Amino acid sequence: MPRAEVWKKGTRSYERVKQGVKREVTVPLYVSPYAHNRNCITFHVSICKQRPQTLATKGVTGIITCEALSMRYSEHTSPVLQGLELQVNRGEFVAILGRSGSGKSTLLKLIGAMEQATSGNLIVAGHNLGELDETARTLFRRRKIGFVFQNYNLLSSLTVRDNLRLPLALNRVPDDSRVQQQLETLNLGHLRDRYPGSLSGGEQQRVALARALIHRPPVVLADEPTGNLDRSTSEEVLTLLQSLIRAHGTTVVMATHSQEAARIADSIYALDEGCLVAQHQ
Ligand SMILES: Nc1ncnc2c1ncn2[C@@H]1O[C@H](COP(=O)(O)OP(=O)(O)O)[C@@H](O)[C@H]1O
Ligand SMILES: [Mg+2]
Repeated sequence: MPRAEVWKKGTRSYERVKQGVKREVTVPLYVSPYAHNRNCITFHVSICKQRPQTLATKGVTGIITCEALSMRYSEHTSPVLQGLELQVNRGEFVAILGRSGSGKSTLLKLIGAMEQATSGNLIVAGHNLGELDETARTLFRRRKIGFVFQNYNLLSSLTVRDNLRLPLALNRVPDDSRVQQQLETLNLGHLRDRYPGSLSGGEQQRVALARALIHRPPVVLADEPTGNLDRSTSEEVLTLLQSLIRAHGTTVVMATHSQEAARIADSIYALDEGCLVAQHQ
């Protein structure tokens, strides 16, 4: 049966406070056939009012599609993700909120082909990840994904400049003028010969952003990118990330436990009981 036919029309109610007055608002939306409870809605509210199949005809291009995605690390533990549905459009900045252990990193690892889903479909930048062998997965990660981590993950034995050279070298497109340009764009030129260990957290994360984006991947996955930074440095790093991705139309999925950090995103979801719930901004 075509997927569209089993999507059910439903409604969702939530409380909205407007000018100090609390009101219950009900919005129509479509509920996934894979949802194990009615909270497991797909798509953020601005587009979930339409049937999913109409999105394609309206020219909306999804770059990440998760369908009925489930992940269980072992038979002896409960599933971390259960029938998760998500559609991310090209150039969209998505934030995933959730308590520690809710599965945020797991979801990013699946999208970045660092782990394999137990079941379901996952299509990223035109690749059906379930169909790729190990070599293809490695190439996919190198070419299509930029990773940003909470603890920066820079190579400590390489200078800032060599950390930036690495993704281009691995993709066999060395380009020192691009490295130089990237250093200048991120105001890192004066740090180019320094080693990560001699940099502040904010500087290391700026280098990590530069490295994640230097090979111009279509998708950047940021896992708690501001988790180790103070408030003003977090703001600086997020604003920088936002301006860098806007310049190239890059799509970002950012996991965070910070409501404040999530506010910068175009769409916000909460990961709860293995499913995503759209949040109202
Ligand atoms: N490699 C792994 N092997 C087994 N269990 C794991 C592994 N990675 C994560 N988990 C478990 O999956 C759950 C979700 O973890 P994680 O995705 O890291 O959550 P979050 O990033 O939201 O804190 C946790 O219970 C964690 O212990
Ligand atoms: Mg995590």
